[in-house]
Amino acid sequence: MREKLERLRLEAKRKIDEATNEKELEAVRVEFLGRRQGKITQILRNITDLSPQDRPLVGELVNQIKRAVQEDLKRREKEISREEEEEWVDITLPGKKPLLGRLHPITQTLEEIKRIFIGLGFQVVRGPEVETEYYNFEALNMPRYHPARDEQDSFYLDDTHLLRTQTSPVQIRVMEKKSPPIRIIAPGRCYRRDAVDASHFPMFHQVEGLAVDKSITFSDLKGCLTYFVHQMFDKKTRLRFRPSFFPFTEPSAEVDISCIMCKGRGCRVCSGKGWLEILGAGMVDPEVFRKVNYDPEKYQGFAFGMGVERICMLKYGIDDIRLFFQNDLRFLSQF
Ligand code: DAH
Repeated sequence: MREKLERLRLEAKRKIDEATNEKELEAVRVEFLGRRQGKITQILRNITDLSPQDRPLVGELVNQIKRAVQEDLKRREKEISREEEEEWVDITLPGKKPLLGRLHPITQTLEEIKRIFIGLGFQVVRGPEVETEYYNFEALNMPRYHPARDEQDSFYLDDTHLLRTQTSPVQIRVMEKKSPPIRIIAPGRCYRRDAVDASHFPMFHQVEGLAVDKSITFSDLKGCLTYFVHQMFDKKTRLRFRPSFFPFTEPSAEVDISCIMCKGRGCRVCSGKGWLEILGAGMVDPEVFRKVNYDPEKYQGFAFGMGVERICMLKYGIDDIRLFFQNDLRFLSQF
């Protein structure tokens, strides 16, 4: 009997120690001390089966064990409630900041350019990055063996297909499909076989612009680009239209802005000149209109093309184009 009781006590202790919460602990209590089925309770109840001289001894023994189990239960109950307390979360502690993604600086610059031109009534259109020679060169008045093709050393895919070297072919695609009035910008990637350095990368972004209507003049081009520069940089930035040449515009100009860094006094960024070139532009060449069956006597238009990386670099004072494509979070997380 003594042995049996001792075994019961050890079993109860083991189960009590194994209980990890109040519910499990209560189940152990019921198993041993429950009023009906409790293992210890039942022994006490059956004590009348024993001979009268054995009863007090066994009764005393069972009560001892009952008390010991009760104490174990109490001890474990305290432990459990302390453990639960320790698990509490202190909600007054400052939270952990999740790492947020952000838009690439080129995307941000593109969005800003789009916002400005949409405000002027321009529509955003896109064209394919794999172009035919016809759209990339010929329709833009750059026939085969035209020297201007050399400046845009291209990635050819086969005899007639290449990765577009400029966004200008989108002008042709739009004019083929629509009649004037036209006001579009065409953002997108361009590709040239340039050696990589601080200002050249074989893939880059341009935004093309085109406006065609019955009485468009060079003044409209100037007004439009001046508004753009003042929005993109600030109202104090000055513009300079420098005569230039593009096969698809006549007259053509390159547009400079007063240096963002030194305000025109001359510094390292503008090589002491005080001016920075930001885009090419001009009046659409009648030859281009003829290619898309527009009557050059009836319609005029202006066009422009700008490099997005260049504008982004000037806006944020970035001195190496390669930073855009290295995916270094130390760089990217600054925008
Ligand atoms: N496509 C020219 C380039 O990549 C940029 C350009 C110049 C676009 C004059 C134009 C323009 O639309 O009128 O160098």
